[in-house]
Amino acid sequence: MTTSQLTLEHRPFSFVPAVLVGVIPLAILIFLLVGYSDVPHHVHTIAQHFYIVSIASLLAGVVSLIVGVAGIRLRNLQVVLLALAFISLGIIFAMHGIATPGYIYGNTQISGVAAVLSLLFPCFWLALSSLDPHLPIMRWLAPRATLLLWTWTAGVLAFDALLLSMPNVADALQVFTFPVFPFVALLTLSFAGVAAWRFLQSYRYTRITLHFALFAAAIWLMISMLTIWLSPTWSLAWWEYHVLFLLAIGGVLVGLYQLYGRKASLAVIIGGHWNPDPVARLESAISPHIRELLELTEKHDPYTGGHNYRVALYALELGKAMSLSPEKLRILAQAGVVHDIGKLEIPYAILNKPGKLDPDERQIIEQHPVAGWMYCSRFGFMPEELEVIRHHHEKWDGTGYPDHLAGANIPLLARITAIADVYDALTSKRSYREPWDHFRARDFLLEGAGTHFDPECLNIWASITEKGPIELPPELER
Ligand SMILES: [Fe+2]
Repeated sequence: MTTSQLTLEHRPFSFVPAVLVGVIPLAILIFLLVGYSDVPHHVHTIAQHFYIVSIASLLAGVVSLIVGVAGIRLRNLQVVLLALAFISLGIIFAMHGIATPGYIYGNTQISGVAAVLSLLFPCFWLALSSLDPHLPIMRWLAPRATLLLWTWTAGVLAFDALLLSMPNVADALQVFTFPVFPFVALLTLSFAGVAAWRFLQSYRYTRITLHFALFAAAIWLMISMLTIWLSPTWSLAWWEYHVLFLLAIGGVLVGLYQLYGRKASLAVIIGGHWNPDPVARLESAISPHIRELLELTEKHDPYTGGHNYRVALYALELGKAMSLSPEKLRILAQAGVVHDIGKLEIPYAILNKPGKLDPDERQIIEQHPVAGWMYCSRFGFMPEELEVIRHHHEKWDGTGYPDHLAGANIPLLARITAIADVYDALTSKRSYREPWDHFRARDFLLEGAGTHFDPECLNIWASITEKGPIELPPELER
């Protein structure tokens, strides 16, 4: 692993690229609409239209094949829904190309109808794929995902065949009349808006290219809809939307390629920030390089490895209950899994000593936050991640270590991690004592309000652990 790889994944989040994704094409659209909407400037190249649309459709086909196969193999509804978005896009946009006015067909409505539907359907499926899998509609769809995939694919293929063989049907659909068109356009914009918002939150949390690509695709499909609404056919602005289509699909392909080789599967990652399963949510925030560090810790001391993972999971749940931003949650997840990495430098015999530690041994153990902080500084971790590693043993009353910080001077994410850390230590079996049960450990933590722990954080933690422990995957059960 190189420092530059890590630095890249730990760059602070910036809204600038997300804003540019929308602003640049919108600015170009306005420029083209204002400056080049008069007829003499029109670019009317039938063959070019046929080819660019065919390329876009083929690429969409490749995306749907990759995602569709993954969806069926992983038995994951969200992935299948994503495939449906690209299946709709590819098959209907292909019809848009085939029916290019004046190429194979004469002046029919087919191309126009296809243009509108190749936006409406993908945006619908994109929005649906970004929803919470625990919603009733999603739970109803889940066992029917494969059936849905085949039925919908057959349906849009049949729809293509129908329109291409009977062009009159396209005329009869009256897509460009009032109020059909504004209704369809607003529906498309709403679906795409939901998808864009949800995928952007996921990107802030996972920082994987695919989430950004899906966000960008949703934004570009919105701008395409606006373009169809506002620009005359064959005008330069109208051409822009074809280019946006190509970019949207190409971007998702790049995102899929980048995901290839990552250990967590598409099914785990796709839900991102919105993943209702705590373990999947944690997994989707951990970059491959952090995972390597985690595995290193596990080899040194199996207890510490599992402990790190559980602490990250608990801290993430508490952070979520405190409505922290996706960026903060990502920091909790990533710093949580390596918070004790400094223990790599502590002899195994001291770490797992049965019975009480003598003062010298205690002093050695207490060096681990600073050791971990130094270790991770070299790898270009972000300041907030480093703070969690350094300060997770500070106490609210200032009696902790290594810097004896007190109260709000202790970074918030370190205060959260401290609660998760102590709870997990108490409920784990150690070399020197048996594990405590959930409620005994919970009562012990609550007694530390205002002395050991931040009372506000602890209050929220108390409410999410009132009925029982936070769920753990079987391999992490102690
Ligand atoms: Fe620690």
